[in-house]
Amino acid sequence: ENPKTQPTPPMGFNNWARFMCNLNETLFVKTADAMVSKGLLAAGYDNINLDDCWLLRERNAKKELQWDPELFPHGIPWLADYLHTRGFKFGIYENAGNMTCGWYPGSQDHEEIDAKTFESWGVDYLKLDGCHMDLQKGRSYYEEFEYRYKLWHKVMGNLKKPFIFSQSAPAYFSPNFHLDKNNTDWYRTMEYVRKNGELARHSDDIKVYSTLANQTFEPGGHWDSMMNNYGMEVRLARYQSCGFYNDPDFLTIDWPDLSMDEKKTHFALWSSFSAPLILSAWIPDLKKEDIEYLTNKDIIAVDQDALCEQATLVSQDGDIDVLTKNLANGDRLLTVLNRSDKTKSTTISLTRLGLDSSGFYKAKDLWTGKTSSVKKAIEVKLRTHQTTILRISTSEGKNNLTITPTGQIFNT
Ligand code: DGJ
Repeated sequence: ENPKTQPTPPMGFNNWARFMCNLNETLFVKTADAMVSKGLLAAGYDNINLDDCWLLRERNAKKELQWDPELFPHGIPWLADYLHTRGFKFGIYENAGNMTCGWYPGSQDHEEIDAKTFESWGVDYLKLDGCHMDLQKGRSYYEEFEYRYKLWHKVMGNLKKPFIFSQSAPAYFSPNFHLDKNNTDWYRTMEYVRKNGELARHSDDIKVYSTLANQTFEPGGHWDSMMNNYGMEVRLARYQSCGFYNDPDFLTIDWPDLSMDEKKTHFALWSSFSAPLILSAWIPDLKKEDIEYLTNKDIIAVDQDALCEQATLVSQDGDIDVLTKNLANGDRLLTVLNRSDKTKSTTISLTRLGLDSSGFYKAKDLWTGKTSSVKKAIEVKLRTHQTTILRISTSEGKNNLTITPTGQIFNT
């Protein structure tokens, strides 16, 4: 049984893609303070999540996990309390295998004790990664992952309140990773994670920030990395329904090689998917124009829409992608992405969206807030890597169209 603790996709912050193992208490305190003062918490970004490397390398004599006291001098329960007092939920990271990806103690064979420890610290949200899995009892990787992720679900069911459960399992069986040779394992993994928790990563890590204190990564490549995860997410729409969300990884807000149009595209696509909106950025330095688009109420409403639908592709015409989904009040979403490196114009007929071409519609541009009347077709002009996101309603304010799970649209 799915705990369904999340009626809409989670929103918030995680340090990983921006800071990796360079984390400490101050980073989270300053992030939380900035999320309050910049209006991000009020806009719905209410989870603050630690990623890998917060731990000591050894468990204590009682086999419990321990935080690194140099990084967290007041302790993790203090941090959880600091965040709760300000209205955030607190998320932590562990790993289903026996070591985390950063070689800290993993939870394999310690699921129960770790769940209790996290509960006693005030944890609300658990990201469970999939590195260094030991195969036990002759199990294959696929079987060991399934066993461990289901076990965590069970163990959390015995807590007063299960954590929001963010699972990494499918990513380890994706076509780019395929831990087991069988390519269909990616889809098989999706079957159980959707019953097991609230979200699941299914694709590669979004490329981390280019330079960090003691780690250097090749600069650039962030647009391609984002497009890769978008391309993988688009195949999995049928697995998503309210309570379970496909997670294409973090929103990378302050990457120097992404243009403003590219960052807004990232946000518009993830929102069209009703994906988790987890920011990985140095929040205190975000600029006014960044905050403005990240708190766009109309686009957040698309992400948090009560139907929780993931937009599907209607057409992929050269470098122009057209996506659509139903919205809870009967409106229709239209998202158009220009993947090319040139400005492009395109005309999308209402018929292509399955709308009755003799009808009158209103289209609200969710970036500008401007509404215009539409008949027969919608014309869109897009700069390179720009995305338009429109909310379409009939002039009567009602619309009787449905989309099948495969993305085909029929009049009803
Ligand atoms: C792999 C995950 O996909 C990342 O998001 C991050 O959690 C790292 N592991 C941490 O080691």
